[in-house]
Amino acid sequence: MSGKKFNIAVAGATGAVGNQMITCLEESKIPLNSVRFLASHRSTGRKLRFKGDFIEVEELTENSFKGIDIALFSAGGGTSKKFAPIAAKDGCVVIDNSSAWRMDPDVPLVVPEVNPHAIADYTNKGIIANPNCSTIQMVVAINPIYRKCGIKRIVVSTYQAVSGTGKRAIDELFNQTRSMINFLDYEINVYPHRIAFNCLPQIDVFLENGYTKEEMKMVNETRKIFEDDSIGVTATTVRVPVFYGHSESVNIETKEHISADEAKSLLANAPGIKVVDDPANNIYPLAIDAAGQDLTLVGRIRNDESIPNGINMWIVADNIRKGAATNTVQIAEILAEKYL
Ligand code: A2P
Repeated sequence: MSGKKFNIAVAGATGAVGNQMITCLEESKIPLNSVRFLASHRSTGRKLRFKGDFIEVEELTENSFKGIDIALFSAGGGTSKKFAPIAAKDGCVVIDNSSAWRMDPDVPLVVPEVNPHAIADYTNKGIIANPNCSTIQMVVAINPIYRKCGIKRIVVSTYQAVSGTGKRAIDELFNQTRSMINFLDYEINVYPHRIAFNCLPQIDVFLENGYTKEEMKMVNETRKIFEDDSIGVTATTVRVPVFYGHSESVNIETKEHISADEAKSLLANAPGIKVVDDPANNIYPLAIDAAGQDLTLVGRIRNDESIPNGINMWIVADNIRKGAATNTVQIAEILAEKYL
């Protein structure tokens, strides 16, 4: 770092991801001059803890970004669409966790373990996009195999935690579960069906091609991050009654053969990954182990015996940390160290 100290804002500071961004900033090596916490008018005046102090939440307005170097956004797509360009105009670099800017050709979509070079393109619009949580953990885990063997096709099914939907969904799973085990009536407010003791094969809205928006995010974002439109990706995304940690069953067809053992040692030496794979002792990645830490856990690594060049993996990460806040703050660290 150059000795510069940074003014950083968190937009959506009171939300599930925003809160985690604050924790990640506390843990980060970015030298800070000031932090500013922004949310809707509903939260104005609320105090949030930061490094032992209490900082008042301010309402996010058009004037919030004057003097700010980096703004971390996680306040919904509409807010990002409106306020990210305003922040950028004030000379602030926005790192946006919503889907609003991800597929804009002038906005880099970055996972630091995979395509850190793309951060340089922040100069186009002053905005960097953070990928979808399910995409991030998948590309971290498949990146070493992609670089070594090439990938023709990916078939992924996800088992996604409710925290990805936000605070209201965490409360919904808790309240429905509590009601049901006490034989009480429950309310359905967030998802189209009950999430407690259930699995919902719908994340976000359905599109004309029969896939959900979440599924197509995995397709399009994976290709953009690898800068490779030849990769075939088909996804089924499922919401499960888990609070934190997304799990994914991923099948990859590679261009060149790789054995399961080679894949394991490749992954074991790759950044951001922990291989957790000892089936003889019932050891494999679990959401409860992934939650609260930053590594992407990979296990159940085995050859797909139905095709000549295929690998199956079970990939689990904390969707709020590596899937959102940690990835955003890692981008901010590189930005601060190399570019600002
Ligand atoms: P608030 O708490 O004041 O509503 P989550 O994804 O967990 O639901 O959190 C969403 C975050 O985005 C919250 O911090 C929320 O603030 C913030 N937010 C939602 N709508 C707006 C808005 N129009 N302007 C600013 N912040 C918003």
